[in-house]
Amino acid sequence: MVSKKLETAINKQVNAELWSAYLYLSMSAHFAHEGLPGFANWFKVQFHEEQDHAQKLMNYLIAKGNKVELMPIERVDTSWKSTLHAFEDTLKHERVVTSLINELVGLSRGENDFATENILQWFVNEQVEEEETAQSMLDSLKLIGNNGFGIYTMDKELGQRVYTPLDISATTA
Ligand code: FEO
Repeated sequence: MVSKKLETAINKQVNAELWSAYLYLSMSAHFAHEGLPGFANWFKVQFHEEQDHAQKLMNYLIAKGNKVELMPIERVDTSWKSTLHAFEDTLKHERVVTSLINELVGLSRGENDFATENILQWFVNEQVEEEETAQSMLDSLKLIGNNGFGIYTMDKELGQRVYTPLDISATTA
């Protein structure tokens, strides 16, 4: 089992991952409405990935004999001024998630809970990728600026992103 303190903290992280999923689903709906199906697709894939992150943590708690407690998910924004603003929010959000993961690692380290630290390592690496991706999208959008053809082309590219289910088992770090 993990300690009660860690159980509470991991349940909070499950909520943060589901909140992330909700945020990206909202972005997906927004861009579908705006006539940018590629951006909508990209955020829909992101939504599925965040759900997987939550489930991986839930499966870990279950494997350790702890209790999963799902809490209410806070409301999210429903519209963005531009694709650039959405990716600015994405990067800001992923940086917050990184700091939450780091806090969790610190907590598990403080308790000498090596199994928890081990599974969290997967999330540490994932966050590097998440921040890098959001940053590179932002860089592209800054280059494109107000060029309609650039946005059109990027939308076509983002439409190619395919969701690959994550291994959500409790033991794969
Ligand atoms: Fe699961 Fe994008 O943080």
